[in-house]
Amino acid sequence: MLVTKQKILRRFWYALMPMSVLEDGPRPFTLLGEPLVLWKGADGQPVALEDRCCHRTAKLSKGSIEDGRIVCAYHGWTFDASGACVRIPQAPDKPVPKACRVRAYACQEKYGYVWVALDDPLQPIPDFPEDGAPGYRRIFQFYQTWKTSPLRFMENAFDSAHFSYVHRANFGIYEQPRPSIYEIKEDAWGFEAHTVVPVKNPPAGHRVSGSTQPFIERHLYNRWYMPSVRRFGCIYADTGKHHIIYNCATPIDDSTIALAQWLYRNDDESDCSTEELIAWDAPIVEEDREILEATDFDACIDTARRAEQHMESDKPGLLMRRMMLELLRQHGEDEVYNERRA
Ligand code: FES
Repeated sequence: MLVTKQKILRRFWYALMPMSVLEDGPRPFTLLGEPLVLWKGADGQPVALEDRCCHRTAKLSKGSIEDGRIVCAYHGWTFDASGACVRIPQAPDKPVPKACRVRAYACQEKYGYVWVALDDPLQPIPDFPEDGAPGYRRIFQFYQTWKTSPLRFMENAFDSAHFSYVHRANFGIYEQPRPSIYEIKEDAWGFEAHTVVPVKNPPAGHRVSGSTQPFIERHLYNRWYMPSVRRFGCIYADTGKHHIIYNCATPIDDSTIALAQWLYRNDDESDCSTEELIAWDAPIVEEDREILEATDFDACIDTARRAEQHMESDKPGLLMRRMMLELLRQHGEDEVYNERRA
């Protein structure tokens, strides 16, 4: 599926970048192929506009912020959060024509991140119930660019068959390649997927899991939020430690995503520090990145063609494809764009 051609994908919220990045001034971001400029408005809230000045098309992200408004670097035309031009320095005595404006997008801050929807959103930003809940801490782990597509990332996130191979250097049990099977509960905008996975527990993971046993069990209460957010709800059965990860695989263009990863833990820094938790998850994320970048980004959603239908462990990925296909059809996008069939 080529994400930039499926218009319905414009009607979801996407996580673009940490709010902290905007402290240094306006920043560009390309979402679903559309160039945006983001900045922090006078009220502290993020703003997203088309990154193209309506005067001579200069990128507004090259500009600066004055009184919460963005000033084009070329001739100083100034735009407010609604996209209206409010000042033309070369004609201070004349009213600014109403046509002088650029497109504005729905934009808000949540979980310390800037979220944008290009068109009228179908759903609110996914709820991360651990955020701000008593007993949990939030650790912002990763913000990276990957050469893959959201669907490739999401199917991998629910694919328990790759653990024994891709992650054999840390938690995956190579000698036990038979994957755990998910119990899946589907709803209108995604699904819950529960399973129990036996894993290795190397010394580097002892303070993460809270256990020193060489093998332990992870109870996974995962969730897919259509189209490109997932929860990895890991509870270490022996110790009750929660290691809850949320990922957003935000589509930059057809073959590139911005990957964000939050972690929620029900312990504190003395149990396992932020540095230890990042050091534990970093190689796992890197292993996933390396293998996904070695796949074709153009994930086919024609479920009838999938070779892996005989594998129980691929059910979540197949369900995702079916649900995406249904969504496209419901919204009149009967043509599904693919470059290559896979
Ligand atoms: Fe932006 Fe001229 S191009 S003010």
